Amino acid sequence: MHLPLIFLPVHKSHIDYLLLTFILFCHNIKAPYIAAGNNLNIPIFSTLIRKLGGFFIRRRLDENPHGRKDVLYRALLYVHIEELLRQQQFLEIFLEGTRSRSGKTSCARAGLLSVVVDALFTNATPDILIIPVGISYDRIIEGHYNNEQLGKPKKNESLWSIARGVFRMLRKNYGCVRVDFAQPFSLKEYLDSQSQKPMPAMLSLEQALLPAILPSRPNDVVDEGTEAALGDSRDLSSEPFRRQLIANLAEHILFTANKSCAVMSTHIVACLLLYRHRKGIDLSKLVEDFFSMKEEVLARDFDLGFSGNSEDVVMHAIHLLGNCVNITNTSQNNEFFITPSTTIPAVFELNFYSNGVLHVFIKEAIIACSLHAVQSKRYRNGINNVPPNMISQEQLVRKAASLCHLLSNEGAISLPCQMLYQVCHEAVERFIQYGILLVAEQDDQEDISPSLTEQQWVKKLPEPLSWRSDEEDEDSDFGEEQRDCYLKVNQSQEHQQYITFLQRLLGPLLEAYSSAAIFMHNFSGPVSETEYLHKLHKYLITRTEKSVAVYAESATYCLVKNAVKVFKDIGVFKETKQKKETFLELSSTFLPQRNRQKLLEFILSFIVL
Ligand SMILES: *[C@@H]1O[C@H](CO)[C@@H](O)[C@H](O)[C@H]1NC(C)=O
Ligand SMILES: *[C@@H]1O[C@H](CO)[C@@H](O)[C@H](O)[C@H]1NC(C)=O
Ligand SMILES: *[C@@H]1O[C@H](CO)[C@@H](O)[C@H](O)[C@H]1NC(C)=O
Ligand SMILES: *[C@@H]1O[C@H](CO)[C@@H](O)[C@H](O)[C@H]1NC(C)=O
Ligand SMILES: *[C@@H]1O[C@H](CO)[C@@H](O)[C@H](O)[C@H]1NC(C)=O
Ligand SMILES: *[C@@H]1O[C@H](CO)[C@@H](O)[C@H](O)[C@H]1NC(C)=O
Repeated sequence: MHLPLIFLPVHKSHIDYLLLTFILFCHNIKAPYIAAGNNLNIPIFSTLIRKLGGFFIRRRLDENPHGRKDVLYRALLYVHIEELLRQQQFLEIFLEGTRSRSGKTSCARAGLLSVVVDALFTNATPDILIIPVGISYDRIIEGHYNNEQLGKPKKNESLWSIARGVFRMLRKNYGCVRVDFAQPFSLKEYLDSQSQKPMPAMLSLEQALLPAILPSRPNDVVDEGTEAALGDSRDLSSEPFRRQLIANLAEHILFTANKSCAVMSTHIVACLLLYRHRKGIDLSKLVEDFFSMKEEVLARDFDLGFSGNSEDVVMHAIHLLGNCVNITNTSQNNEFFITPSTTIPAVFELNFYSNGVLHVFIKEAIIACSLHAVQSKRYRNGINNVPPNMISQEQLVRKAASLCHLLSNEGAISLPCQMLYQVCHEAVERFIQYGILLVAEQDDQEDISPSLTEQQWVKKLPEPLSWRSDEEDEDSDFGEEQRDCYLKVNQSQEHQQYITFLQRLLGPLLEAYSSAAIFMHNFSGPVSETEYLHKLHKYLITRTEKSVAVYAESATYCLVKNAVKVFKDIGVFKETKQKKETFLELSSTFLPQRNRQKLLEFILSFIVL
């Protein structure tokens, strides 16, 4: 039986769709219809695509003159897509509206996906196979998105700018591209499985994170009522259920596409230079570290987009990173010394490439930062005669889950069907397996707190956060009866260095978020969101220019946007719409200065200075 295939690639560069169509063409697979923003419909390119057998579908779901969904257009699009699926044509849909500016895969826009799901439900086709596609470039033809990260207005994609990019690509060496097709899955089976198993109640970020930030506040936002919000109806006529289903599907696809993106040599070199050897490193040591990180990436089940001798690969990557690295010849042992350039554009660009490897380590980085938070908090609060080098596993996992929530706009940390609490628990277990965390012996534990029985200890912890019970699966092996255990950090130099590296990986994110919280201290009155973003960005850029910032790359515009978005999501800001503009003002919860201070302290607790 023939089924329509839908390719859903990540979107990293202008040439993504050309590349994919070309690859399918070379393998005798019929070229897909491409649904992407209008800005991709550029004369010569679309001719090329048509020659290869593909077509563009104009997509206008998100932009329209009245700020409302264009009902007529949506209806036409629906009929068009349904007809294509009926004819078993292939589609290529870019879920991310625009190319990823940060080098990370950005959040999903799911309009077209809901049209596809509808088509399946009206039996236009018996099933649809979904194929997430990962694409990685050694170097994108655009070079970087620095102008946008520095806050300059986005240029329209013109034929000329793209043609220039392509000519540059042909003339200069842009290294390799990797396209990875993930295992196709049946949309029908996915939807069936989703409507049978109970969907974990989706708490808003406000409900999930606020109790961790303001623990003393009566948790009136979280009551049992929230769980009923989705209702029992698991059919698509229930709008909230439907929206959640589509959002989860989009996230599932993007996560899988993202997971299959190969890690390129430039990603690893940029990451090592920024977060391991920011002050510079001998080439031979860089090659050594490159080899170790390559092994670590493979051990975590990610693909590599290069092969061969590490030394050659590192030279290739350094060559591609060009101006961003400074190579000097130390006269001593005839050795090259490599430093990352310190100019703002260079650091932004290195950060862009380094983000290509962030997802490999993100969960471990979250644990490493939470480790710091739990240790320093313990130290401050001086919990009863537990020596400062002991950590409660339960507390660590809980802290890590709250950090996952805080960073949820930076890309999915796990599949939407997985529970964050469980994901963090497993990440901690892996630290124990690696030998980074050591489980304190039974005797040790009794030595520490002979007076405290397990039950009493549990009572001393703050109330379990609401998501704990909501997210817990029935067959979760983390039952109530499982006792908390105490952990110690292995003091070996190797592991300490690794933890430091992981903590630095999240440094720029946490610095941007904490600076955004500091900036809010002066907040007064409603201000338009555009203006606020602009001012906040200027504040961050100034910190970087004056070298107040620890990480210059904390001033990238996408971090500014994500920080404001997460503050809106946790209810720091109240949004009001006037005419076409969105205005921000502080919500009543965060109007008192002390609550803004608590938010800042919460973020700072993860930062290692
Ligand atoms: C981009 O195009 C839109 C309309 O297509 C126009 O309104 C806008 O001014 C253009 N922007 C630039 C920077 O040229
Ligand atoms: C994609 O990768 C980025 C980092 O490259 C990561 O933050 C995120 O988990 C992934 N995004 C999605 C939507 O899965
Ligand atoms: C490269 O490094 C050397 C030595 O550290 C320094 O003198 C030089 O200014 C640097 N060049 C650039 C372009 O940063
Ligand atoms: C480094 O410089 C020294 C002289 O300063 C020169 O003899 C040597 O060949 C250079 N090494 C490389 C690898 O270029
Ligand atoms: C700490 O880590 C080192 C290096 O992996 C290992 O050799 C050592 O056994 C670990 N320490 C303990 C107490 O397990
Ligand atoms: C807050 O306002 C004061 C005085 O207007 C100014 O000196 C300070 O730099 C501002 N702080 C921030 C974070 O903008």
